[in-house]
Amino acid sequence: MKLERLDKIISLQFNISRSVARKAVFSGRVTLGGQVVRDPSMRLNPEESDICYEGQAVEYKKYIYIVMNKPKGVLSASNDKRRETVVDLVPERLKRNNLFPVGRLDRDTTGLLIITDDGDFAHNAISPKKKVSKTYIAELDGAVTDDMIKLFAEGVTLADGTACASAKLERVGETEAKITITEGKYHQIKRMFGVVGLGVNNLRRVSFGGLQLPEDLDEGECRELTSEEFALIIDK
Ligand code: URA
Repeated sequence: MKLERLDKIISLQFNISRSVARKAVFSGRVTLGGQVVRDPSMRLNPEESDICYEGQAVEYKKYIYIVMNKPKGVLSASNDKRRETVVDLVPERLKRNNLFPVGRLDRDTTGLLIITDDGDFAHNAISPKKKVSKTYIAELDGAVTDDMIKLFAEGVTLADGTACASAKLERVGETEAKITITEGKYHQIKRMFGVVGLGVNNLRRVSFGGLQLPEDLDEGECRELTSEEFALIIDK
């Protein structure tokens, strides 16, 4: 494990700025092994050091992985001047400075969204090369036919000529379908159904890789992923 500066460790774990963390150290509010330390630049292994800030122990995690059941009407972004974003919905106790959603769901799409501050993980999770599957339930304005299932499996070409990789389309009700894709093109599912003349009235993401949308999350709620859940996302 890489050694990190004390002020950086405090700032990351308690979601405070680096300058506030530095002042906390200077003013004796940080202890190491029970002893006050006053050097914010000291380098430590955060996983093995007994650091406390205002009496609260640091449980060091380099990155955070949050699963949200995204509600309708919220933007998949970190911040926006006018509109509410998914990061605005993250409770203070899980907030970190650089949180962002892994890929985007449309404003009117609901369901499984991962929020993190780990750029490498996000890159792998959404890279089409990694073929991480994403499954959605779509409520449509018409019925899915066998020809559509075949066409989606062969790979649909969107109206603008963009070719999509093979997708698995399954009927789950008269006008409801389950669709699994391994890419994340802009409005991909709505555009794929558009090619076959179907409109999407409702779209909900129910899985990301091997991770299912947790049943304990109502729309708008989120929580940290367990390490077991995290391991399900990308096939190693
Ligand atoms: N495809 C869409 O059309 N919208 C989403 O939000 C996700 C996939």
